[in-house]
Amino acid sequence: MNIRVLPLDRIGASVADEIAEVVAAKPDVLIAWTTGNTPLRTGIYRELIAREQSGAADLSSCWFVNPDEQLGIPREHEESYHAYMKRHFFDHINHPEERRFIPDGMADRPEDECERMERFIEARGGIDYQLVGLGINGHVCFIEPAPSLPARSFVTPIADVNRQLYAPLFGGRLEDVPTAAVTFGWGTVMRSRRIILVAVGREKAEIVARALRGPITTECPATVLQLHPNVEVVLDEAAAELY
Ligand code: GLP
Repeated sequence: MNIRVLPLDRIGASVADEIAEVVAAKPDVLIAWTTGNTPLRTGIYRELIAREQSGAADLSSCWFVNPDEQLGIPREHEESYHAYMKRHFFDHINHPEERRFIPDGMADRPEDECERMERFIEARGGIDYQLVGLGINGHVCFIEPAPSLPARSFVTPIADVNRQLYAPLFGGRLEDVPTAAVTFGWGTVMRSRRIILVAVGREKAEIVARALRGPITTECPATVLQLHPNVEVVLDEAAAELY
């Protein structure tokens, strides 16, 4: 693992520069995104949009996939990952919708949605570059701590600790927070050719230390990233405090 500690206000530009290089080298690259606060706090999407709008990066031929979605909320719901990606990224760039896959949280058979996602990835020869965040309980995508981790995309319960974290986004009502999600499997993540994990803020310091230095265990899924041959971890000073 290559670990870089940068000031918070330089992370967005640094990651966006790397993505622009990846896209220049392979215009039809398949990139997997992440949602959550981290890309917003660091400005990763904002910086990438700026490069696209200035002509420094042409994203129009890229393929994009999102690794997860909460079940039971429609795409139009403002907390769906579909709406998040539109609001924070896709609405601002020139990119054809047919070249994206964001799982549908209202799919009749979520297991089939998982298979559709796997096939989308396989048909493009695998994920070239995956941006991931780090959940407070060590989850990556929605791969929650568990005695074993499915290899292929799957339907998962959302851990209580995360549902409580998201409650303010759902009007403070825990009962309105989705209880399940579809997510990449661990094999889906590990087959990505390059993974960039970004974590910022003091509240991530304990889990960052565990993920990067702790024993490898499916009870802290991010620890498994230690086995991936091409992972870059980008932290701000607060998140790096304990590792
Ligand atoms: C969310 C998403 C992940 C995200 C992670 C961290 O629930 N399922 O894809 O990376 O949790 O989120 P944040 O950046 O808000 O801490």
